[in-house]
Amino acid sequence: MSDIDVLLQENRRFAPPGHFSEQAHVNSWALHQSAAADMEGYWASRARELDWFTPFTSVLEWTPPRAKWFTGGTLNVAYNCVDRHISTARRNKAAIIFEGEPGDRRTLTYWDLYVEVRKCASMLKSLGVQKGDRVGIYLPLIPEAAIAMLACARIGAIHSVVFGGFSPESLRDRMNDAQAKVVITADGGYRRGQVVPLKRNTDKALEDAPSVQHVIVVQRRPGGLGDESFADMREGRDHWWHRLMAHASTDCPAEPMDSEDVLFILYTSGTTGKPKGIVHTTAGYLTGVAATTRDVFDLKDDDVFWCTADVGWITGHSYLVYGPLANGATIVMYEGAPDWPDKDRFWEICARHGVTVFYTAPTAIRAFMKWGDHWPTRHDLSRLRLLGSVGEPINPEAWVWYHEHIGHGRCPIVDTWWQTETGAIVISPLPGITTTKPGSATKALPGYTAELLDANATVIPTGGGLLALTRPWPSMLRTIWGDDNRYVETYFSKWPGRPDLYFPGDGAKRDDDGFFWILGRVDDVLNVAGHRIGTMEVESALVEHPAVAEAAVVGKVHELKGQALAAFVTLRTGFHHSSELRDELKAFVADKIGAIARPDDILFSADLPKTRSGKIMRRLLRDIAEGRALGDTTTLADPNVVAGLKEQYESQE
Ligand code: WT7
Repeated sequence: MSDIDVLLQENRRFAPPGHFSEQAHVNSWALHQSAAADMEGYWASRARELDWFTPFTSVLEWTPPRAKWFTGGTLNVAYNCVDRHISTARRNKAAIIFEGEPGDRRTLTYWDLYVEVRKCASMLKSLGVQKGDRVGIYLPLIPEAAIAMLACARIGAIHSVVFGGFSPESLRDRMNDAQAKVVITADGGYRRGQVVPLKRNTDKALEDAPSVQHVIVVQRRPGGLGDESFADMREGRDHWWHRLMAHASTDCPAEPMDSEDVLFILYTSGTTGKPKGIVHTTAGYLTGVAATTRDVFDLKDDDVFWCTADVGWITGHSYLVYGPLANGATIVMYEGAPDWPDKDRFWEICARHGVTVFYTAPTAIRAFMKWGDHWPTRHDLSRLRLLGSVGEPINPEAWVWYHEHIGHGRCPIVDTWWQTETGAIVISPLPGITTTKPGSATKALPGYTAELLDANATVIPTGGGLLALTRPWPSMLRTIWGDDNRYVETYFSKWPGRPDLYFPGDGAKRDDDGFFWILGRVDDVLNVAGHRIGTMEVESALVEHPAVAEAAVVGKVHELKGQALAAFVTLRTGFHHSSELRDELKAFVADKIGAIARPDDILFSADLPKTRSGKIMRRLLRDIAEGRALGDTTTLADPNVVAGLKEQYESQE
């Protein structure tokens, strides 16, 4: 059965429990209606929930494909996430409950955060960081990551967080593209009991990143990590975070920023070999994330919210840091792996800290299912009241398991569709009003308009089509850093003559109730364990290896990861395939990009299937990688190539 058929047969319905609806922030569909009737008025009122230094004078200026939101106003994101809570009862409330993988724990109240953010902001200033400068952040998932992000926001510096699992080369490319002045890193971070040598990686990256003048190094554990080589400090360039912070002043006012000033750049994969620096701005982004955090996660003052994402991804930006803190929430931050030291680490954390709202990815849920029901059963999960999912389509089986074994049938599930580019959740249930269907992200939230379109931009009311957002929204990306043409090309050129239509790159189905069922990417972008990887990026990495002449990478269905990478490789003359070379190539890619890009399969081939015009036929390669009967090969230059490949692939297993 195809994915579409499975989804079409899903007819279970989960109405919001009465006890939940009664107390929910959003408990009627009136919000959708009023927002649809006056979209700008709706967003203006959401923007006014923030604290402004100067009120905005215009809500939306839209000249497709460009939109500006809330112009004329000034505000500061760090002020909204921290300072404004200090004058309220939240002053001594826990902002961040941190747990390191080795078991170290720290709690920072809003007051603590207020102190740390101002000191960090002063520290950055003392190293010459000014408004508009770029700061790279390459840290483990520790409180300093949030502090550094907020400190940048406070002084108007633009942060670019790079996930700690990325390689030195990936870090280097991003720092060069952003022309970063400072990098904030740590001597190391913990992952499955091992130290990830972030400082060593940074040193390697900076061998060829001349814009970076200073490196600030967080000592992950007081006294160091037991191996001096984790933190080889270079005189003049490198500074210990704790030393500078000890002398940093708390006197550092929040810079008034224009609504459209850049808040951050976050790199994500696209269809070329080069990642895109997605640019988000100040007021629209914060309005979008603050409003959706409040409504979708129904956050109340006594909630403990745990979003398991790393700050290196957009989910960590929007729903670990900015959205929850703008709402004055208590967040849980956990550094490490879900199966360390054992497979119940997440449930132990939920129970210990009394987590009430839990947000994770389908790939994690599928791993929990596989590990067995007995792991969550050991812990008291009775405080959980709402569950969320993000990153890829959630299969109904995983949805129902999550509902039963984690939510005990009591917690609504919000399956949230969005992207790095959308900044905030776009399509999602609202837990107090939406009757959910496992596998469907349901409907666009108030203030958003999503449609399915065909190739001619005609709306498809029910059936399959291309997902499009037909009106701008406050937290949308504004451009691609340094490559504005690519912005227009990638997102606003799918339907010729219609620069008003945003194309996310996803295909979807719409059912008779108007619910969306996201089917996945329709471009050459893969979603591996909820992380976006461009096939071209992996291909470019492979061809840098001296043995490789040509490479083609496709996605194949994977039980846990959703998709996994399969690479088809032709070797240069003089090189011979072997299992050693296969392992070497896998390691080579992991080294070049990061472990998330390591191919599961590598298949050697004398040739790759191409059309007569020389285009690699990925569809055929996918068929082979997934063990399907071969599709149409009539346009193929040499049909024998495919038959040979398929035979090899099958004998490899
Ligand atoms: C792509 C965006 C949004 C944060 C995590 C990923 C897929 C995301 C869902 C969902 C089906 C989803 C889409 C999207 N995706 N959430 N709930 N159901 N698909 O961010 O790396 O920017 O990737 O992830 O394909 O385009 P990202």
